[in-house]
Amino acid sequence: MSDLPGYTSANVQGTAVLLAEMARAGVAVLVLASSMVVYGEGAYACERHGPVRPRPRPEDALRAGHFEPACPGCGRPLTPGAVAEETPADPRNVYADTKLAQEHLAASWARATGGSAAALRYHNVYGPRMPRDTPYAGVAAIFRSRLLDGREPLVFEDGGQRRDFVHVRDVARANVLALERVAAGPPEPGGLRAYNIASGEPRTIGAMAGALAAACGGPEPRVTGGYRLGDVRHIVARPDRARRELGFSPAVAFADGMAEFARTPVTSS
Ligand code: UD1
Repeated sequence: MSDLPGYTSANVQGTAVLLAEMARAGVAVLVLASSMVVYGEGAYACERHGPVRPRPRPEDALRAGHFEPACPGCGRPLTPGAVAEETPADPRNVYADTKLAQEHLAASWARATGGSAAALRYHNVYGPRMPRDTPYAGVAAIFRSRLLDGREPLVFEDGGQRRDFVHVRDVARANVLALERVAAGPPEPGGLRAYNIASGEPRTIGAMAGALAAACGGPEPRVTGGYRLGDVRHIVARPDRARRELGFSPAVAFADGMAEFARTPVTSS
């Protein structure tokens, strides 16, 4: 909570200043670096209730090692699936609030000025020049730093939580494609079009830790059973809309990307 003013000032106020200047200068195209955090938990279905939005996992469940979210209607186990862009936003922390606010501001700017915006909802980006020593460092950088120090990666929960690790070069290409498409296309009816930017090759955190440890020649990961309050269990997506509309197809396969990541230096921020 102590970061709340800083987050909102950088992400929300900063975006507002940028958009006002774009309107003044007549810049009509925006590609926003958004995030899959706007969805909250991923997509889930209950065999009795169909598609459902699970509530945040209670701490006593996590403490007892019950990591899978339950159906909010009947408490039954859920089947996780891939999240689509139409899924209603469900931000679950301040960072997610600010990313969603950016999307809303960008859409309002586009409608008011006749501009167009694409929101690229990055999944878990990794690759060269990933910072290692900020609270913002993702799990791949954290694991890699530990492995370089000769220590085992510490895998939270039971390691079965799923993410989509998308390589930074693929993300960079998605940005160029989105910029070209937004610049060339007609204005977006709602002002903003969202795209999941994912590899389409989801992995569990346990599997990612194992692949990175093997590629680094480091010690085997340790599954701790620990947890972070506010973490979601599974969040994965198919990049189908980006493929169809932007011509985006991820080029870096998981195994190749992790092997390369194991060899390249992680930078200090
Ligand atoms: C991350 C970012 C989010 C960003 C999103 C998409 C953070 C805190 N979250 O979310 O801002 O928008 O990716 O790029 O930066 N884990 C371990 N061991 C560790 C650290 C993490 O097992 O040492 C687990 C976590 O419990 C979680 C998973 O790894 O289940 C992913 O964590 P993290 O890399 O922080 O990413 P997200 O929470 O998915």
